[in-house]
Amino acid sequence: MAAAAAVLVVLLATTILVAAPAASAAASSSGGGGGEKSTHIKLYWHDVVSGPSPTAVRVAQAAVTNTSKTFFGAVIVIDDPLTQGPDLKSGKLLGRAQGTYIGAGKDELSLMMNMNFVFQAGKYNGSTIAIMGRNAVLDDVREMAIVGGTGVFRMARGYAQARTHTLDLKTGDATVEYNLYIKY
Ligand SMILES: *[C@@H]1O[C@H](CO)[C@@H](O)[C@H](O)[C@H]1NC(C)=O
Ligand SMILES: *[C@@H]1O[C@H](CO)[C@@H](O)[C@H](O)[C@H]1NC(C)=O
Repeated sequence: MAAAAAVLVVLLATTILVAAPAASAAASSSGGGGGEKSTHIKLYWHDVVSGPSPTAVRVAQAAVTNTSKTFFGAVIVIDDPLTQGPDLKSGKLLGRAQGTYIGAGKDELSLMMNMNFVFQAGKYNGSTIAIMGRNAVLDDVREMAIVGGTGVFRMARGYAQARTHTLDLKTGDATVEYNLYIKY
């Protein structure tokens, strides 16, 4: 009887061993095909306009000069560092925000953001997220659309929420907390 039980155990174990790779292959193909993932990424965006090495540069502005309060007509190109923590110097660099923002509000401070978050570290290294949306910078929370992505984030969609962390009124340098809610 003991021998029969031992044979049964061996048979069961063999069945499991044979079945397991098939099951895991099925799981990974359904994960790649129909499965949709959600993730939340929090990071800090640093707009450095002052000093010898700015990461945000104005490349164009309106010919009329009475629009300076709202930056209406200005075009700024950015390559802003993205860090895990709020401090630019000590925070871990996660990537860069590359793109433009333009002054799109004639009578109010309202920017049109058009940028890629380019991940350069961690598990998303090499992937990008495309963000486009209205940024009324004096509002507590600004919501922008996540309109796509590459690499890990192919077919991504979602939204980003921006909150000003610090704004140096003297230099214009700003640190903004971004929370990304992504489906991909
Ligand atoms: C700028 O000046 C023009 C001409 O005086 C005026 O029509 C316009 O409303 C002004 N714009 C702003 C934002 O003040
Ligand atoms: C990110 O990926 C690039 C290209 O594969 C690699 O050279 C780089 O070392 C990676 N960075 C980190 C921080 O892992």
